[in-house]
Amino acid sequence: MIISDDDSKKNTPKNGESNIQKLPPKSKARAKDLEAVSNEFDETYEKTIRPKSFNEYIGQTSLKETLKISIEAAKRRNVPLDHLLFYGPPGLGKTTLAGIIAEEYGVDIKITSAPALERPRDIIGILMSLKGGEILFIDEIHRLNKVAEEILYPAMEDFSLDLTTGKSQTVKTMRVPVQKFTLIGATTKAGALSGPLRDRFGIIHRLEFYKPEELQQIVKRSAKILNVEIDENGALEIALRSRATPRIANRLIKRASDYAIVKGDGKITKEIANLALNNLNIDDFGLDNTDRALLKLIIEKYSGGPVGIETLAVALGEDIRTIEDVYEPYLLQSGLLMRTLRGRTVTKSAYKHLGYDIPGNFNNGQLGLFE
Ligand code: ADE
Repeated sequence: MIISDDDSKKNTPKNGESNIQKLPPKSKARAKDLEAVSNEFDETYEKTIRPKSFNEYIGQTSLKETLKISIEAAKRRNVPLDHLLFYGPPGLGKTTLAGIIAEEYGVDIKITSAPALERPRDIIGILMSLKGGEILFIDEIHRLNKVAEEILYPAMEDFSLDLTTGKSQTVKTMRVPVQKFTLIGATTKAGALSGPLRDRFGIIHRLEFYKPEELQQIVKRSAKILNVEIDENGALEIALRSRATPRIANRLIKRASDYAIVKGDGKITKEIANLALNNLNIDDFGLDNTDRALLKLIIEKYSGGPVGIETLAVALGEDIRTIEDVYEPYLLQSGLLMRTLRGRTVTKSAYKHLGYDIPGNFNNGQLGLFE
């Protein structure tokens, strides 16, 4: 059983529309509500197609093999699995893998995220509620505050909590046991995790971007579950334009399917996928308007870079964390952007991709010999 924060939400929409009609009419509140409903709808949709076992899970092959061995060994020794940390860009399947581990290990999983564990009693409550062997999944674990981290350390190490009662001179510390559990932490930023917290994970794994043929398989699998007709080339087209990320591929199936129903005969072919994605302003590299705006800004206003992330964030009206966690990883991976000591710089491929001439003196923002 998966018990998550999301499941406790009331009025989970069965489809996007019914809830959208109930929203209050005022602009800003409405925009926020629409966003919340659309996120909730995406989560419901994602859960429907989420693989439930290693057999169904495509990609991350070596990670899967390592996990299978760890699970088998823990089962044979009859001990909880070591605490696990997954890191990597969003949408690559960290939560999905945690769910599969619980399923394969035959235990329940409680899903939460660091921002929901703001007060000491939040983390104490969840740790005390765990049953033996259960998995606790904490998303965005790098955002855990210091107090929550300190509570977590003895729980991870000795399955106990050091609780204090009373004030100043009458303060008493009590050691309270909790059930043995496995913590699975997920983060987009392993570097932002404190050293002591990182050291308490027995297994640390990075999730990789997916290869086009893996994403093509994922698209075909999801389309089948959703009863969407798609051919090989249609699936490949979506795969190639999904930023190497299953979550994006799965969302694009939905958009391409809508397009196929309205403009075609319901089947996603290469041509339909291409038209649907062009319509969404997603280009051949899978870049969207914001990706291109970021690259164009560096090219047009900063001669290709280097430029600091703070400056880019202000100019784009995005926050630094969104740029670092959502946009940059794929731009770096696809060789369009580079991080240098002096800031972000585009590459020659970015100039070419966006149709600009490469300036004669362009040196990718590297320091010259005498700079
Ligand atoms: N849906 C999202 N991620 C997936 C994966 N890795 N394999 C199969 N289906 C998925």
